[in-house]
Amino acid sequence: MAILNLDLGERSYPIYIDSGLINKTDLLSSHIRAKRVCIVTNDIVAPLYLDSLKTKLTDFDVDEVILPDGEAEKNLANFEVIISHLLTYEHGRDTTLIALGGGVIGDITGFAAACYQRGIDFIQIPTTLLSQVDSSVGGKTAVNHPLGKNMVGAFYQPKAVFIDINSLTTLPVREFNAGMAEVIKYGVLGDKAFFLWLEDNITAIKAGEKQVLAQMIEKCCQCKADIVASDEKESGVRALLNLGHTFGHAIEAEQGYGKWLHGEGVATGMVLAAKLAVAMNLLEVSEFRRIEELIAAFDLPITAPKNMGFAEFIRHMRRDKKNIAGKLRFIIPTAIGQSEIRDDVTQDTLQEIL
Ligand code: NAD
Ligand code: GLY
Repeated sequence: MAILNLDLGERSYPIYIDSGLINKTDLLSSHIRAKRVCIVTNDIVAPLYLDSLKTKLTDFDVDEVILPDGEAEKNLANFEVIISHLLTYEHGRDTTLIALGGGVIGDITGFAAACYQRGIDFIQIPTTLLSQVDSSVGGKTAVNHPLGKNMVGAFYQPKAVFIDINSLTTLPVREFNAGMAEVIKYGVLGDKAFFLWLEDNITAIKAGEKQVLAQMIEKCCQCKADIVASDEKESGVRALLNLGHTFGHAIEAEQGYGKWLHGEGVATGMVLAAKLAVAMNLLEVSEFRRIEELIAAFDLPITAPKNMGFAEFIRHMRRDKKNIAGKLRFIIPTAIGQSEIRDDVTQDTLQEIL
């Protein structure tokens, strides 16, 4: 088992990575504060893993909230469903919430934990590749608003993250590939050696070789933990983790949440950000091609939806959380393994690439 630590002073927490972790109860129990636990999951993940988790928590008083599946369900109405459940069943401040599922469940559960009675403990058990390499680590919690992605939320750290690699065996290929977009992101934004390693391991990753997946997930979590430890609330370097997200969030919101998977939006968004970099003479065309090829190798989309041009993108990007004083800011790859935050992208250049 690999154990990483996200170093945030008194809010530090461990990230455990192993096969079969959902069944290792002692470890999980040691992070639960008191008797009561509420597991939040959805109607796809519950039949796969909920009973197995519950039967391992016999020392606790456990109940659950099972939400409908889907990105469109990451909303204020379901946030209220969780809060109402906690109140109805008289959960107190010592209850621990467990998020069992992908990024949607992790984000909404974390936000409910941040708000319920002004903050209760929560634990992440991410079950998708995307949530294992990105969303379960770092404490960004949120729900979507019809006018914008992740527009209501809080920075609120979990008490521990349990990454069970075995859960990937039930994940649909399209979802696995969407997670690969966030994996590739780490290589592009700041780690050339990792990007090369990914290029060399495409076949093994696609074949689901456990050793290789474990190595890959550990690398991503370490990268994320290092960045978050140095900039928890995104006043600087953490913004680099949004590579591809400015365009990606616009695609997700414009198409309707759930039509394009989050990782698919990020994949196309990364290609567009790299295209922008080429147009600004900041990135070699050969490096652009390699980025595009690695993304395409995981069957991810590399072109924007046909119904979206400059006007559609700009409408959403104006509400991007990175913007300062109304100025759009983009994460631009300047080489494989190097990226910058830029606020000098002209409308002409944007129009040209979109
Ligand atoms: P998701 O949570 O919708 O999960 C994808 C699909 O896989 C769902 O249908 C889910 O029910 C199903 N599923 C989950 N685990 C499974 C398993 N083991 N076997 C079979 N099916 C399984 O989507 P996601 O890609 O995990 O997460 C995307 C969300 O994460 C977006 O809302 C995005 O905004 C958010 N996100 C948050 C952060 C952050 O830092 N908080 C970072 C990246 C993404
Ligand atoms: N996924 C972006 C971040 O956690 O900052």
